[in-house]
Amino acid sequence: MSFPENRMRRLRRSESMRALVRETSVEPGDLIYPLFICPGEGVRREISSMPGVFNLSVDEAVREAELAASLGVGGLLFFGLPASKDEQGTGAWAEDGIVQQALRAIKSSSASKKLVLIGDVCLCEYTSHGHCGLITETRDGWTVQNDPTLELLGKTAVSQALAGADVVAPSDMMDGRVAAIRSALDKAGCSDTPILSYASKFASAFYGPFREAADSAPQFGDRKTYQMDAANLREAMREIDLDLAEGADMILMKPAMPYLDVVHAARQRVDVPIGAYQVSGEYSMLQAAFEKGWLDRDRAILESLLGMRRAGADFIVTYFALEAARLLG
Ligand code: PBG
Repeated sequence: MSFPENRMRRLRRSESMRALVRETSVEPGDLIYPLFICPGEGVRREISSMPGVFNLSVDEAVREAELAASLGVGGLLFFGLPASKDEQGTGAWAEDGIVQQALRAIKSSSASKKLVLIGDVCLCEYTSHGHCGLITETRDGWTVQNDPTLELLGKTAVSQALAGADVVAPSDMMDGRVAAIRSALDKAGCSDTPILSYASKFASAFYGPFREAADSAPQFGDRKTYQMDAANLREAMREIDLDLAEGADMILMKPAMPYLDVVHAARQRVDVPIGAYQVSGEYSMLQAAFEKGWLDRDRAILESLLGMRRAGADFIVTYFALEAARLLG
């Protein structure tokens, strides 16, 4: 049947009609809000390249968590800015590490019953060189060592789980990290803690503002020997297959907006829950346009999130989580 028997506009005539036939939705519970925890008390320091996002001390993070819970947000993702850094990234797995402190404080607050607490497992915020694994000198300069890093990632995941993380999310892109983390968790009695692996994480320019937020820019070189090449979709599928074979319970795709095809392809391929990460650069790019008055803020925020759900994401990590939850509520 075609025109004039068929008229697509019939089902667009009113908001109630459009609501009836709407295929995709975003709910506050689909959203995960990242927090950047820093030392001190009463600290709430805005990140210059991410207006509206703050480095928060533990006490402020508890307040932010309570706000997120009251808005119906689904969960929190924790990053840490330690007081000091070293070659190994010791702060990542220290029992009194900055993220561990925040997890304990929020776990024992009323907010924790309504929120899934997710620890980002990586070394880059804690290493003096800013890379996601251990560095060693080679004949050609330096390299990020894969296998020796795995043990440290396992220790980090265990210490986060013991401090109260409901989920651990490795973002380092070392090979074999999911299996290493699974076995470390199981040995530590944390066999019920799920792993959300950043299965396909591309070496992206869109992480720029995050590196200011988390103070994690590499001091030399870049992350291209461990994060994926932006051109590769099939390789992303192999990463997903491997992470699932190693025991990942859920996967995270990152960045989101420039990689919606990857989210879609993952959705076609696997039945595990999929998250999309609307990364710092995606956030800041929209904020810049809002500041200039070039985009309608509320509509653009919700449309950007809806696109990720339509591509196949079950949940979305986004710095807009609180604002979007307010708009949706
Ligand atoms: C740490 C990590 C990064 C992001 C999440 N975890 C930075 C990076 O890989 O350089 C980026 C998140 C964002 O840009 O919002 N490995």
